[in-house]
Amino acid sequence: MSALFEPYTLRSLTIPNRVWMPPMCQYSAPPEGPQTGAPQDWHFTHYAARATGGTGLIIVEATAVSPEGRISPYDLGIWNDTQVEAFRRITAFLKSQGTVPGIQIGHAGRKASTDRPWKGAPRSVPRSTAGRASRRAPSPSTSATRCRPSCPSSRSARSSASSPTQRGARWPPASMSPRSTARTAI
Ligand SMILES: Cc1cc2nc3c(=O)[nH]c(=O)nc-3n(C[C@H](O)[C@H](O)[C@H](O)COP(=O)(O)O)c2cc1C
Repeated sequence: MSALFEPYTLRSLTIPNRVWMPPMCQYSAPPEGPQTGAPQDWHFTHYAARATGGTGLIIVEATAVSPEGRISPYDLGIWNDTQVEAFRRITAFLKSQGTVPGIQIGHAGRKASTDRPWKGAPRSVPRSTAGRASRRAPSPSTSATRCRPSCPSSRSARSSASSPTQRGARWPPASMSPRSTARTAI
């Protein structure tokens, strides 16, 4: 029999089933002003709809720990109380539906401040329009440098990283190495 709808227990955490939602950036938070990085109605609806559908675990999209750590200026953040309160509205509803809320926290490092993917080729957002950092890559923590030199994916990663216009064209962006992200239940 399928275990899909069976609970899964990890230490003190029990998730009601095995239908889990991975983090998926919406790039839909205000980039500036008092609501910068705070979840909006868009985010509430996005996550609440999956919770009402019975999703056991929802891991909220990559959420930055500081303004300059955002992949794009439209990322969620969790560095101030306004953001925390906005998250509370979402987590309270998820819990009311029996869903376990999780979050992926991250810092995009030197490759932060990329524009939203649907804006076309990846490009840096200038400081004049909420950009925070210039994208100087590669970073020593990319997968290309962690892999052995003989590894084919290492060679292809190095050659693709040679063009700045190609970096960040896919998920995960080069900035989100495993060292810079963490997925946790909240
Ligand atoms: C629109 C979109 C946004 C995503 N954003 C994130 C993200 O914020 N963090 C992350 O680790 N992965 C992100 N991903 C990758 C997904 O979490 C997931 O790993 C990927 O879609 C592969 O899932 P699958 O193996 O179930 O197909 C994103 C994927 C999509 C399609």
